[in-house]
Amino acid sequence: MLLKIIMAVTGILLILFLFLHMIGNLKIFFGQATFDHYAHWLRTIAEPLLPHGWFLWIQRGGLSVAVIAHIVSATILARRARAARPVRYAHRPKVQGSYAARTMRWGGVIILLFVIYHILDLTTLTLNPNGESGKPYANVVADFAPGRWYITVLYAVSIIAVGFHLRHGIFSAVRTLGQQTARGERIARMTALVLSLVLVAGYLSVPFAVLTGLVD
Ligand code: HEM
Repeated sequence: MLLKIIMAVTGILLILFLFLHMIGNLKIFFGQATFDHYAHWLRTIAEPLLPHGWFLWIQRGGLSVAVIAHIVSATILARRARAARPVRYAHRPKVQGSYAARTMRWGGVIILLFVIYHILDLTTLTLNPNGESGKPYANVVADFAPGRWYITVLYAVSIIAVGFHLRHGIFSAVRTLGQQTARGERIARMTALVLSLVLVAGYLSVPFAVLTGLVD
């Protein structure tokens, strides 16, 4: 049970980050000055209590711990589930639980690989075609330029994977944290779907806006 609670709590923390990050990304529609100013502001959070840029490092530490705890708990829980059924089914039953479990595992792997790519692309700027530190607007616009449509495809696939992962994740987290009634389950299912759709739409809007020239 403790592992499931760790999964639920770390998952909720990561979702919180995803929503804040999405809102930040949408500032790109207000122009270069607004977006770059926002990125600069991120480095000044909690000043002068903390020195410049420290908040971001604390956030990085917190997110890394959450991601590691989430993956370790998931792995231990999956192994336990397998050990409880030593003889594999000859035919996988087409029940939702097993489908969800499989998509959660592969979805998780895709998201992890995406985050590694994303950090090399827009944080360290190693793989970014513009790669100017302090100029995130220009870096994002260069990233999703029409000639690099395959980067938009890569981001779109990853963002959709995040959406599926969240839909099941939010629903499971709510159940782990005590939701038990049939009505509550319907509400949880609906909430998970709506939150995932909002997130996917918000994230997808940025690369597609650049690809189509709405943002340049
Ligand atoms: C099209 C969608 C996205 C865009 C345009 C985008 C853009 C950015 C940019 C510009 C930064 C650098 C911010 C800065 O240093 O000021 C950043 C950082 C980050 N993004 Fe995204 N992002 C997107 C989707 C995602 C998704 C789906 C995830 C997670 C699954 C994610 C996770 C992160 C993380 C963890 C960081 C922080 C890295 C650090 O510590 O500096 N991003 N993103």
